[in-house]
Amino acid sequence: MDQLYDQASDQGDTQLKPIQLNQVPVNSHNEWDPLEEVIVGRIDDATVPEWHVALESTMPEQSWDFFRRHGGERFPQDMLEQARVELEGLVRVLETAGVRVRRPEKVNQLLPFSTPHWRAKGGLYSAMPRDSFLVVGDEIIEAPMAWRNRYFETHAFRPLLKEYFRAGARWSAAPKPELSDALFNEAFRHPKSMADMSYAVTEFEPVFDAADFSRCGRDIFAQKSNVTNDMGIAWLRRHLGRDYRVHVLEVNDTHPMHIDATFTPLAPGKVLVNPDRIERLPEMFANWQVLVPPRPTVELSGGFSMCSNWIVANTFMLDEKRVFVEASEEPLLRAFESWGFEPIPYSLINFNRFGGGFHCCTLDIRRRGSLQSYFD
Ligand code: NVA
Repeated sequence: MDQLYDQASDQGDTQLKPIQLNQVPVNSHNEWDPLEEVIVGRIDDATVPEWHVALESTMPEQSWDFFRRHGGERFPQDMLEQARVELEGLVRVLETAGVRVRRPEKVNQLLPFSTPHWRAKGGLYSAMPRDSFLVVGDEIIEAPMAWRNRYFETHAFRPLLKEYFRAGARWSAAPKPELSDALFNEAFRHPKSMADMSYAVTEFEPVFDAADFSRCGRDIFAQKSNVTNDMGIAWLRRHLGRDYRVHVLEVNDTHPMHIDATFTPLAPGKVLVNPDRIERLPEMFANWQVLVPPRPTVELSGGFSMCSNWIVANTFMLDEKRVFVEASEEPLLRAFESWGFEPIPYSLINFNRFGGGFHCCTLDIRRRGSLQSYFD
């Protein structure tokens, strides 16, 4: 069998294994090629983030009091357990579908940490690998996240990253941000409409969450948000270079954080678009089928929620046809069927209140496919 050796092993590092050409460890160019390997997060240790302008800018207002009172404590055990059971069930469904599922390490999120600029009572979770890593082809990029309590979030995944690296993947990290007070907008007031829009983060340094980007081969779509600034988008654009085009979408969202309940490419020529948040798409989508999901009927309730009910639009493709959809969201299931998809109904309704859905809690490491352009 042909073998391609990692450059480092050519230079004498015998620890590195040869890469098998038919077993590229990391390969994902879009949101829909057939899924072969995925990381699914862990919710077990989730800890309530401390109150901060970065939270105020995105958390639903009815949950503010909960965060103000419980920052730095573990989330209620019964809610964690319900979410954990759902997530473990999702792992089994993926494995049954023939997908290799990988998991982060268990870490203690209650350990305090500090930098020269600030202190945090603990971490958040390792439940949402979509937020902290962007996979572009054979490269995994660690995102420079803006929330202080997420500063070390990637570490739970480092054993996997090192394994992928040893097997030939590219592994990089955007410049580690300082997250000093200068990054945060002191004048931030929760905007009532797009007319008085402001963001929690300034342009002090590049920051982004990977979940503010969506991949369509050579074209990557981004939104500016309360965790992703212009400088962060510019960093990624320059890092990826000429093979990619990074487009910034116009998004009508007064509390933006993560694009994947707003704009989701589902297959070549098919994109799911949140009718409350996107009024128009760039001209390049003129020949695409724009699918508009029905408004959510389920209500995330009970104590707190870290996201809006639109989390049900956070779907995840097993391949071009099969899509994970919230089982209790009947109108959305029917809509996917009418559009010619094969929805896989599964419920993450308790997990959702921690701020993520199917796309957030997964990170597709390997999909069977190659880099292509899906636009003329
Ligand atoms: N922050 C978004 C969810 C992103 C997956 C929302 O609250 O709708």
